[in-house]
Amino acid sequence: MKELRLTHPISWLDGIDLRTGKIIQPDHPQRGESIAGKVLYIPHSIGSTVGAYIFFSLRKYGTAPVKIVLEEPDSITIGAELAGIPVELKGGREIRLEDTEIPDEFRRYLEREASISGAEGFVRVSSVHISGVSYATIGDAGREWLEGMKGKVRFRTLATTNPLGMDLIRWEEMGIPERFARGQLSIVDSLLQMGAIPSFTCTPYLVGNLPHFGEHISWGESSAVAYANSVLGAKTNREGGTKTIVSAATGYTSLYGRHLEVNRRPDFKVNPPEMEDLSDYYALAYLVGREYPNAVPVYLLRGSVPEMKALSAAGAASGSIELFYVPGVTPNPLQRVDQEVRVTRRELRGVYEDLSTFDGGADLVVLGCPHLSLQEFRVLSQMVSGRKATTRFWLYTSRSVLSLIERSGLKTALDRFGAEIWADTCMVVSPLEEMGVKKVATNSAKAAKYLRTLRGLEVEFLNLKEILERYSVPR
Ligand code: F3S
Repeated sequence: MKELRLTHPISWLDGIDLRTGKIIQPDHPQRGESIAGKVLYIPHSIGSTVGAYIFFSLRKYGTAPVKIVLEEPDSITIGAELAGIPVELKGGREIRLEDTEIPDEFRRYLEREASISGAEGFVRVSSVHISGVSYATIGDAGREWLEGMKGKVRFRTLATTNPLGMDLIRWEEMGIPERFARGQLSIVDSLLQMGAIPSFTCTPYLVGNLPHFGEHISWGESSAVAYANSVLGAKTNREGGTKTIVSAATGYTSLYGRHLEVNRRPDFKVNPPEMEDLSDYYALAYLVGREYPNAVPVYLLRGSVPEMKALSAAGAASGSIELFYVPGVTPNPLQRVDQEVRVTRRELRGVYEDLSTFDGGADLVVLGCPHLSLQEFRVLSQMVSGRKATTRFWLYTSRSVLSLIERSGLKTALDRFGAEIWADTCMVVSPLEEMGVKKVATNSAKAAKYLRTLRGLEVEFLNLKEILERYSVPR
């Protein structure tokens, strides 16, 4: 049987061409090689937790590997088992879950995951966050898998949901094609029938799914995973989208990885230059995630919710950073670390250049990756006061935060500026390319990466001040 050995981690969501099985991840050493029909050896995955749905599509197109052998346990890749692709990890041992009340298929999956990953057993979880909710990312293969469970599976835990591919109320106004809306509504229907909470946001911690310090949880959405581990002090692995369904339905996860204290120790300190803007936090974490994909860094800086969201999102987009420390923010006791990595302003500027494919002339500005918080809306409404947009500005948030900014009057300044605010969805998981968009400006490194690789758009990564200077004028 043919083998393919990857020397660098793979981003399942946007690193493989589904129809050919070829690796398309930019800069990947094995780019151009096909995984179809091979025994695939990989270190681990990076990037989005929605990648776990890709295995259904690979099976559908006949481009799946026959087996995957992992170097390190990784929930997203182990999700391939749910699509019938065997996964192995050297040194695994058989572990059994004694609970006869959970669906057999899911019990077997958890046992398999625990065995493959060398878990210490299982732990009950009371909080799940489901990723892989957009029709644009999971496609028909994922939709059919969820539909098959409707009526059979009932969630046992609180399970919030990630953004959809469209605003659930104003999708027609957004320009979403009818065919897409039908696929999306079917996914929503399946999840709600199983008992999911229709939060449709990547910031579940801002809308009531707020685990406490030390709590074991099972979360998808890589940015939310890093936030939960690093800012809330809860314990979760970067769960694949399909695994979050298993955890919601069973109330369990396997006890390995970031659930164990031994895997939560910091690796090195990161000494950054002075942070000048929120987008610098994205650039910094993007750089660290790219250079040290699996590390636990200690960022020597300060910040509040927006900055922590930025660090969480970017380090898990260029790499697979699930946990970081910020002294004074991270509630976990900080152990001593001697090694220090210094980052210069020039290196940060390099990230802006690497992620930008054009310079001026965007046909759309997108803000809100991860979804905008109340603080960000407050700052934004002050910054746009007295100005008017010269390009379309689309802002993304949860429906809960939208309701607060409507009722508090914060939205008025943004309306006057000419911004459009969408809920339930985001720029990456909605089909912007099908809506005629070509060139997008953003202040999020995560959005910049995926808008290029997933949506095929031209991208400009700028800080907010630059965006407003370029794409708005005084009123
Ligand atoms: Fe959230 Fe979409 Fe970004 S799900 S983290 S806004 S890619």
